[in-house]
Amino acid sequence: MAENPAYPVGLRLTGRKVVVLGGGQVAQRRLPALIAAGADTVLVSPEATPSVEAMADAGELTWHKRPYEEGDLADAWYALIATGDKEANTRASAEAERHRVWCVRSDDADAATAWTPATGHSEGVTIAVLTTDARGRDPRHTAAIRDAVVEGLRDGTLVAPHHRTRIPGVALVGGGPGDPDLITVRGRRLLAEADVVIADRLGPRDLLAELPPHVEVIDAAKIPYGRFMAQEAINNALIEHAKQGKSVVRLKGGDPYVFGRGMEELQALAEAGIPCTVVPGISSSISVPGAAGIPVTHRGVAHEFTVVSGHVAPDDERSLVDWPSLAKLTGTLVILMGVDKIGKIAETLVAHGKSPDTPVALVQEGTTAAQRRVDATLATAAEAVLAHEVKPPAVIVIGEVVTVGPNPSA
Ligand SMILES: C[S@@+](CC[C@H](N)C(=O)[O-])C[C@H]1O[C@@H](n2cnc3c(N)ncnc32)[C@H](O)[C@@H]1O
Repeated sequence: MAENPAYPVGLRLTGRKVVVLGGGQVAQRRLPALIAAGADTVLVSPEATPSVEAMADAGELTWHKRPYEEGDLADAWYALIATGDKEANTRASAEAERHRVWCVRSDDADAATAWTPATGHSEGVTIAVLTTDARGRDPRHTAAIRDAVVEGLRDGTLVAPHHRTRIPGVALVGGGPGDPDLITVRGRRLLAEADVVIADRLGPRDLLAELPPHVEVIDAAKIPYGRFMAQEAINNALIEHAKQGKSVVRLKGGDPYVFGRGMEELQALAEAGIPCTVVPGISSSISVPGAAGIPVTHRGVAHEFTVVSGHVAPDDERSLVDWPSLAKLTGTLVILMGVDKIGKIAETLVAHGKSPDTPVALVQEGTTAAQRRVDATLATAAEAVLAHEVKPPAVIVIGEVVTVGPNPSA
């Protein structure tokens, strides 16, 4: 006769007594979830692993340092039987049966009245996987299914739109420097749930190709702006799509608030009464040097790094950067949007005291397949840009950190 399938259920254990027999590896694995569920957790075991002991020391459970005794399960709601003594386990499960306490047996799934599913969590949902019957039990398989579902939900490859808790309005998502693996889990999930994506040139463009066909992808650079400024036209596009009740993702390169005009867009949305969620991203200012083997700080070499926009030259009256002060810093200077102005920038830094021999690295299209690094010094940076045809987007790193690691392009 075929065995009946197990009946899945979620136990609400807050304040309810749960007894765990045995303080070994099984208890160590299971206790955190019982504690997290708010159970009044009682451990009965002469010994425990250091992690279980730490839980007892922290007051997360009550520990009776002795072997199992008849009566331990009398007023429990749920029991986990996991001692190394088969005979004690059998007596304990007989007691559980008498008191009608659901019990898990670590040594004998057939003798248990309950099974622990393989569980994982993703954004307010618990995924629990059980095999149908004891004969089909294959814990590795259930764990693998759990991992596949949780991973898929986290990285957006498994699309399960939130119907009730869908984030309304616009999400400003920092997409990271370009490698599609360097977007955050939350960013990837929101992207997978979007109806409309308005994307910049920089950032993880490859992810756009994976979006389902119904998703409208708009290139921010191609939004016609007629009598508006380009930024105003982008703001309007965000507002218009959100007003139609669509889930809109504004996908930006790096982090939305690092030279990303994120706050301008958030303010425009707020003025239009549209809710906005901001998802941080990995900024190119740290990750692109890192991808090229350059740490922005290094013990004994640089105790600070300063991220600067080089989009206007130091002598331009619109510049808000105090270049003479930057020249006096001993740490690392990271310059974004500075390729065109590197000559003037280097000149100004040297004029205010930086050594012309200070190492410089220019990292173009970092973290993408086209990444390349050109090394120079402040004296030679401008000619290196011309000689090697360095083009934006590139991050320029100035300082001794440039030479602390092996140069991958040397
Ligand atoms: C408008 S800023 C945006 C910065 C972005 N919000 C961030 O946090 O990385 C654009 C500049 O970032 C730098 N940048 C962004 N992605 C890059 C990449 N993959 N490789 C090199 N530089 C990059 C370049 O200096 C580029 O000109």
